[in-house]
Amino acid sequence: MNDTTVLNVLAFSGSLRRNSLNTAALRAAQILAPEAMRIETFDLSAIPLYNEDVREQGLPDAVADFRRRIAAADAVLIATPEYNYSVPGVLKNAIDWASRPPEQPFDGKPVAIFGASPGRLGTARAQYHLRQTFVFLNALVLNRPEVMIAGAHTLFDAAGTLTDETTKTFIGDLLESLGRWTRRLQAASA
Ligand SMILES: Cc1cc2nc3c(=O)[nH]c(=O)nc-3n(C[C@H](O)[C@H](O)[C@H](O)COP(=O)(O)O)c2cc1C
Repeated sequence: MNDTTVLNVLAFSGSLRRNSLNTAALRAAQILAPEAMRIETFDLSAIPLYNEDVREQGLPDAVADFRRRIAAADAVLIATPEYNYSVPGVLKNAIDWASRPPEQPFDGKPVAIFGASPGRLGTARAQYHLRQTFVFLNALVLNRPEVMIAGAHTLFDAAGTLTDETTKTFIGDLLESLGRWTRRLQAASA
């Protein structure tokens, strides 16, 4: 695989609300993606609450689709809000569904994490909790750059478009690094 092959990235936001800053940040990422990267989004709103009894009867369609799309993607991009210094239940719940055997799709998958918050730490605590979860799942999470978008309510316009040039640069750098990381891992496993 060379540097012109298009990388398919599956992205999801840990917020379901219409005016989510994190979903808006993902939309910005889609626009800022390098030429050889396509970012498609997955909406977590159809994923039910995890229930082992349900799983034993067969994966719900939305869960099966989520798992299939993670498995098919070259890499995963996650925008996480921070709830009570940690990962929102919506996001953790979706990852829990994806994590169950067989063939858990995060195993060996390149992943990049970022997040937006009106607060001053820009989801730092949530991101470190998310990294911890991915240790167990053996996802290959990009270390740097860390993109923690603080004061995020001031960085988007009323339509949810990212207007802050510095943040655009941070997100662009993250995507460039994810692309390099993904190609490096693909080359190593070829
Ligand atoms: C239940 C709850 C807990 C929150 N806890 C934190 C927190 O620990 N740290 C933080 O920076 N913001 C916290 N917030 C504020 C969120 O960062 C803010 O609502 C943000 O806009 C959520 O992301 P979204 O815009 O993508 O929905 C919390 C919000 C909620 C609803």
